Amino acid sequence: MNKIKDATDFIKEKLGSKRPTIGVILGSGLGSFADKVQDPIIIDYNEIPHFHATTVKGHSGKLVIGSIGEAQVAVFQGRFHYYEGHELDTVVLPVRVLAKIGCKKLILTNAAGGINSEYSPGDLVCLTDHINLTGSNPLIGKNNDELGVRFPDMSEAYSSKLASLLFDIANEMDLNLKAGVYAGVLGPSYETPAEIQMLKVLGADMVGMSTVPESIAANHAGLQVCAVSCITNLAAGISKEKLDHDDVKDVANQVITPFTKLLERAVIEMEKLN
Ligand code: HPA
Repeated sequence: MNKIKDATDFIKEKLGSKRPTIGVILGSGLGSFADKVQDPIIIDYNEIPHFHATTVKGHSGKLVIGSIGEAQVAVFQGRFHYYEGHELDTVVLPVRVLAKIGCKKLILTNAAGGINSEYSPGDLVCLTDHINLTGSNPLIGKNNDELGVRFPDMSEAYSSKLASLLFDIANEMDLNLKAGVYAGVLGPSYETPAEIQMLKVLGADMVGMSTVPESIAANHAGLQVCAVSCITNLAAGISKEKLDHDDVKDVANQVITPFTKLLERAVIEMEKLN
């Protein structure tokens, strides 16, 4: 069984003349960016071999391929998480399919809990780096040499070139885009206050349950990666409030307008870069 080939062949058949070069994966509550795609081909995850319906509220489970300005994009509206019980090779299948259909750049987005005391709910944060605390790695097992090398370099897991482009656009928009390190945990339970204190000591500014496996697989496959977190809540113990996924979605919805504008402009500018 070759999950990557099956899924890629299926999607390639549907592409027609479209040649997406920028991939986007949208996190909890952030899916409506896909509505900005013009002249879209929309493919339900259920139709794609080895893809699954998403089980998490706020992840609609559609692949939308089309254009935004001059940029040709492939947008995954919703993702697979390790905590849903998927194998890691399923979690990162969208990333590998993007690489195989010709994408060179990837924008990852997610909802995250804020650890850094400068962050407030509703802030958008550009990832400068991550800490993999999931206890696993999507590259475990025999290396797929067609995809990438056995020991991929992760010293610039998030492209500084793409990040500075995001900051330039945010500046022009008068948007206070922050920078930070993302701690990727397994979930699905939220962290305890003691765990958040530990993450703070480790150097994390925010915490979430996605993005890290995708970023590793993308770096392995030679994609340039950037990522934006929406701080949907202050992490456990940073605020006394209890954590609830409905609040996560609500806050993501509140920032959807600037978030969408930032991404729209980002893909247009990224198309112009090598
Ligand atoms: N912790 C982990 N994942 C999250 C959080 C959080 O506080 N908020 C949104 N995703």
